[in-house]
Amino acid sequence: MSTEAFGLISDASRCLQVNHEKQAPSPEISEEKVFDHFSKVLGFPLVESSRREFVERRSRLDSEMIETISVENENKIYGFFVTKDTVYYVNKHAGKGSQSEAFFAFAISWDGHQTSRAVLKFSRTAFEGQAELLKQLTPKSRTSDKIDHFRGIYVDVVNKMHVAVFDASDGDLRRVDYSKIALPVFWVIKQLADMMKGVGSFHRAGLVLRDIKGPNFLVNVEGPGKVTDFGLVREKVERIHSTCVTPFYGAPFIWPEGIMDQKARRGTQDERADLFSVGKTIYRDVLRPLIKFFGVQTKIDMTLYNSDLLKSRILKAAAFSDDALLAFEEKYPKHVFVVDWETHQSLYICKTRDKVYDLSLEAINKFGDKINTSQKRGMETLAKLSWVLVDPDGEDQRGITAKGVKRFLLEVAQAMGEGHPVRGALPFASSSASSLPQSSVFELTREGVRDKLRTLSSGATSTSTSTSTSTSTSTSRKRKMEQENLGNGKRQR
Ligand SMILES: Nc1ncnc2c1ncn2[C@@H]1O[C@H](COP(=O)(O)OP(=O)(O)OP(=O)(O)O)[C@@H](O)[C@H]1O
Ligand SMILES: [Mg+2]
Repeated sequence: MSTEAFGLISDASRCLQVNHEKQAPSPEISEEKVFDHFSKVLGFPLVESSRREFVERRSRLDSEMIETISVENENKIYGFFVTKDTVYYVNKHAGKGSQSEAFFAFAISWDGHQTSRAVLKFSRTAFEGQAELLKQLTPKSRTSDKIDHFRGIYVDVVNKMHVAVFDASDGDLRRVDYSKIALPVFWVIKQLADMMKGVGSFHRAGLVLRDIKGPNFLVNVEGPGKVTDFGLVREKVERIHSTCVTPFYGAPFIWPEGIMDQKARRGTQDERADLFSVGKTIYRDVLRPLIKFFGVQTKIDMTLYNSDLLKSRILKAAAFSDDALLAFEEKYPKHVFVVDWETHQSLYICKTRDKVYDLSLEAINKFGDKINTSQKRGMETLAKLSWVLVDPDGEDQRGITAKGVKRFLLEVAQAMGEGHPVRGALPFASSSASSLPQSSVFELTREGVRDKLRTLSSGATSTSTSTSTSTSTSTSRKRKMEQENLGNGKRQR
């Protein structure tokens, strides 16, 4: 997690307080406030010529345009972006995808009233189509904090770029520094539950995300997890359509005729395909980093497990012929993926879900007795959840919804809270409990997890695995927790 980012939050909120104290200043005066504020943020004064340039540029812009301004000081260049409403000071790289690049920015509205942290995303392709699709979400989902909504869309005519503005999250699921988070497993499970709520909003609106993966799930140490990147979102259709997915997260059942359909990118992608990608995300971008982290914490070398868990084979050739592709498919049914669609030079052969599950448990057991029991059991349960969702035949995912997965994750978090021995560490922690409940979500087999997910997906909330007392208390605690909007992991100090 970026300490700089946290610095910005406090700067922003301080600024907000300052600005709220002043009542509706005249436009010229607030421009000066904006410059003064940036001078403070930058640590040097914005000279008169720079101030003039900002104002002039702004006056030329219409509401859809954005322009860049560089400010030089002591041989360093500082990047600003100006719109009709807001000035953005871009100060840090946020991430790079195949379509766009994102930067953290500090934003102040020209009237000097609103300051915030933002992310500016730059792309050669327009964002309007994605924003249009998002309008199909229900009114409630359109303001959901579990979705990384567009805050604004602009065109940078000079640099021929499309620029979208979002609220800044701390990072994505791949970039979490677990050493900065108390109760990392508990925290990430809560973040995943938020993300599943976001995914569920899309599914309910008949939209499929199609590119679920760690880099497209945003995390916040003290805020909600979110789903982002709507570049591949499309309306769900039953008929065959043109498919698009990141191969390492792709569900083989998307392509009815197997690898030939995969090569031709013809198939159907529905909610089950998204759930499969969630399962892959859990083991690639949650379990594996956690295993690595706990290995370092407990000084147990996990290199072997880590490389084994992820290092599925990548094969390269000048170009794989159709016969070669079919031969690979016969040898590794439903576990071979074409990585580069254009040239067909790389194939990815992934491990079976059984193998991944066995390896994960073996790895967790290596350090299991050296870490908190609830953290260990949380990880084991994540491994089971991932196993269920990564069924290459697409059968286990039937009857399971994103909402069911969210509810399941919340139950796991709940069970972890009940078993946590640290007094007051969790909002619902039982202070006297030093061991986990005898009968809980942790006792489920993999098939049991699948059945429970189906039950939770169908709307039932009862937990067949918990004792009646613990069920009723845990449900009411959970409700209370949700009402109070508590329950995100606390940052370690
Ligand atoms: N709101 C945000 N807050 C913090 N970081 C963000 C935010 N939005 C995006 N990022 C970072 O930028 C990266 C790239 O963004 P995004 O996934 O939208 O790009 P993309 O080019 O569409 O990706 P892909 O390769 O998946 O198509 C993300 O993986 C994430 O690390
Ligand atoms: Mg992305």
